Amino acid sequence: MHVIDAGSGVPVLWIHGFPLSSRIFLPQLVIHHAQHLVPDLPGFGQTAPAAGEGSLDAYAKFALDLLDEWEIDRAIVGGLSMGGYIALAIARIAPERLRGLMLIDTRELADSPEARKGRYETIEKVRAANSVRPVVDGMLPKMFGSSPSADLVEEVTDIMMSSSTDGVIAALQAMAGRADASSVLPKISVPTLIVVGEEDKITPPSDAERMAAAIPNAQLVKLPEAGHLSNMEQAEEFNAAVSKFLERVG
Ligand code: MLT
Repeated sequence: MHVIDAGSGVPVLWIHGFPLSSRIFLPQLVIHHAQHLVPDLPGFGQTAPAAGEGSLDAYAKFALDLLDEWEIDRAIVGGLSMGGYIALAIARIAPERLRGLMLIDTRELADSPEARKGRYETIEKVRAANSVRPVVDGMLPKMFGSSPSADLVEEVTDIMMSSSTDGVIAALQAMAGRADASSVLPKISVPTLIVVGEEDKITPPSDAERMAAAIPNAQLVKLPEAGHLSNMEQAEEFNAAVSKFLERVG
């Protein structure tokens, strides 16, 4: 298992999206007064795939085991997209482990039947190609706002291509099978920061607005000129919002 452990202060566990890795959060490691823990989920980046069918609860358990290993009782958990689905699974399974929550370019709803069907078709394409290339080609055009830098596109392509086929298949199964987390939102009692890129095409601002309305102690930040990877595309503004949030959570 590969985990970045950087800085000191309040523990912040960052959970990456699909099909990505801990590298997406490198721009956040400069945020002060935080111990940044950033794992590669099984099958992504430098962490080996796990055996068996993928499930969100298995990823949540992986994250909770990591907190146990680091002897951390309560952490701020920040998840981007699929990472947000996992963060919400943690809020459901083990709310006592949360000190705060950051939901980044994500949503609480389950897949629609069409989206679920698309996930299984993608699994077949990945199996047939024996490569993650079909996923990368399908997702890359949707990842950014209207004007990402060439360097960012290259970096994200490289991160995606570092995913294993087993990891990608398990994550597609996990996302297809995930339950609607709407009923979890009103029960979240910790301070919650919701961030979304105004140009996010995968989990648009309307998703973030709906979550912000349903979570009692939530603050919503919309970042202009950012797409689905708002933390990378507008890192400075994103980090400023997180720093303020850390002061609030303490
Ligand atoms: C992600 O960024 O994690 C994915 O786009 C989430 C999804 O496909 O639902």
